[in-house]
Amino acid sequence: MAMTRPGIERLSHVVSGRQFDREMLESIFARASALETVRDHRLDGRIMAALFYEPSTRTRLSFESAMLRLGGSVIGTEAARQFSSAVKGETLEDTVRVIDGYADVIVLRHDEAGAAERAAAVSRVPVINAGDGPGEHPTQALLDVYTIHMELGRIDGLRVALCGDMGQARTTRSLALMLSLYDNLHITFVMPETCEPSADVIDRLRERGVSFDIRHALDQAIEDIDVVYLPRVQVERYADPAERNRLEGRFRLTPELMTRVPSEAIIMTPLPRRDEIDVAVDADPRAAYFRQARNGVAIRMALLDMLLL
Ligand code: CP
Repeated sequence: MAMTRPGIERLSHVVSGRQFDREMLESIFARASALETVRDHRLDGRIMAALFYEPSTRTRLSFESAMLRLGGSVIGTEAARQFSSAVKGETLEDTVRVIDGYADVIVLRHDEAGAAERAAAVSRVPVINAGDGPGEHPTQALLDVYTIHMELGRIDGLRVALCGDMGQARTTRSLALMLSLYDNLHITFVMPETCEPSADVIDRLRERGVSFDIRHALDQAIEDIDVVYLPRVQVERYADPAERNRLEGRFRLTPELMTRVPSEAIIMTPLPRRDEIDVAVDADPRAAYFRQARNGVAIRMALLDMLLL
């Protein structure tokens, strides 16, 4: 199938939700849709290095699956703090300068915000941010926006509830940045009283004229809504167990609450789940989260195809 490559000349590394515009998103979504069922050898001879300093199920395996489905190969290290030469004190920069001689693209998950930008600054091959601590997770945001597009057929004009702690939730930060590209969208942040949306996100929404409000209880945000995005509390980022316990369990979507969610709305989470979405919600057709996770492969196929061909 012949495919054009609009916009890709502006995309070398993927580090932030900020670097996309609508034309690029439309191009990636069209490519993802076209590649979804493709199994071929277009990336034969290309190598993806998966460099993961933090645990992952979806991001790592969907990137690997995407590369393999396009005929490429995968090398990598998981638990890189333990099993790579980071344990001997090697810096991220030096590691990247070495791996860019072994691979054509580096997919990096790290525990420090800004790590992907640091890696991109020294890498001779594209770096894809697969989550950098509390920073960003742009490929998750791409698959999230793609999922909304696939499920609801539009993004302009939607009412989206982004729940949880924006200070720690890298998926929500990247998603809010990307949603700011759309018109007449309204975002409701649902967060504890002690949390605030991060200043960079608020500035971006104001710059782009996106309307938003802040609520402190889930039941205040579910009745007049198209998308409920409910990530887990990022428990591993809280040093204080009391703070962690206070936040966890604060927002919980139950079958009872689902009776108040509009019939055409969708429920999303980047997963993994702890207890913020009752498993009894899974059977509800509005629960889009496992479809959302599956979309990760097509989006990552599109990114690899666009970056490597
Ligand atoms: N959504 C997501 O980033 O999941 P993993 O941590 O399993 O990759």
